Amino acid sequence: MAEVNLLDRYPKAKRDISSRAAAVPMQREVAKRFGREYFDGDRGQGYGGYRYDGRWVPIAQRMRDFFGLAPGDRILDIGCAKGFLVHDFRQVVTGVHVAGLEISEYAVHHAMDDVRPLLVIGSADDLPFPDDAFDLVVSINTVHNLEYARCVNAIREMERVSRRFKYLQVDSWLNEEQRQNFERWQLTAVTYSDPDGWRKVFAAAGYTGDYYWTLTE
Ligand SMILES: C[S@@+](CC[C@H](N)C(=O)[O-])C[C@H]1O[C@@H](n2cnc3c(N)ncnc32)[C@H](O)[C@@H]1O
Repeated sequence: MAEVNLLDRYPKAKRDISSRAAAVPMQREVAKRFGREYFDGDRGQGYGGYRYDGRWVPIAQRMRDFFGLAPGDRILDIGCAKGFLVHDFRQVVTGVHVAGLEISEYAVHHAMDDVRPLLVIGSADDLPFPDDAFDLVVSINTVHNLEYARCVNAIREMERVSRRFKYLQVDSWLNEEQRQNFERWQLTAVTYSDPDGWRKVFAAAGYTGDYYWTLTE
């Protein structure tokens, strides 16, 4: 298990915390439905337009190189939204088999045409896949949306369905300013912690994969 930032080539966009300053409980409730408002509504309650722009290509390349992915390998992205990373894995690793798991029917129905058949609607804590079904299981900014016991189960599920590699990225903070920014920015997270707390969650789940943090600068 290693702490490694495999999203270091993800574009650094400073989060406009002020756009969430007026977020009220009602907006958080709307965001937690993970419907149109969350993905393609205004920035105050989600992404403000979740559109493909190729930003996941260098991440897929980074993971390909780090894990030594090869033709025939099977990859799962949990909380895949509209399947952008699923799409990009297929572009950068020839002959790879990729699947996505996502709770949002809206996201899956608005997924890219070529990946929609590869996406399954379901919840991270109850994966509809057999043990050891994948070579790499990835989950980025997703498991914090489940309350503690289900979050632990979701991480345990990653462990169960992967026969080799796992990569988990969750919201966290490395200093007080980042913690405050996170609290003001986040809409949907219910399980979150500093890195030490997350490592305890990983241990409770028996997680053996790699991980890193999404930091709100
Ligand atoms: C912050 S988005 C991250 C999307 C994508 N992984 C990315 O990094 O761009 C969180 C995603 O988790 C999904 N999600 C929330 N709860 C979930 C659950 N219980 N099981 C699976 N996906 C879930 C949401 O619908 C959303 O697509």
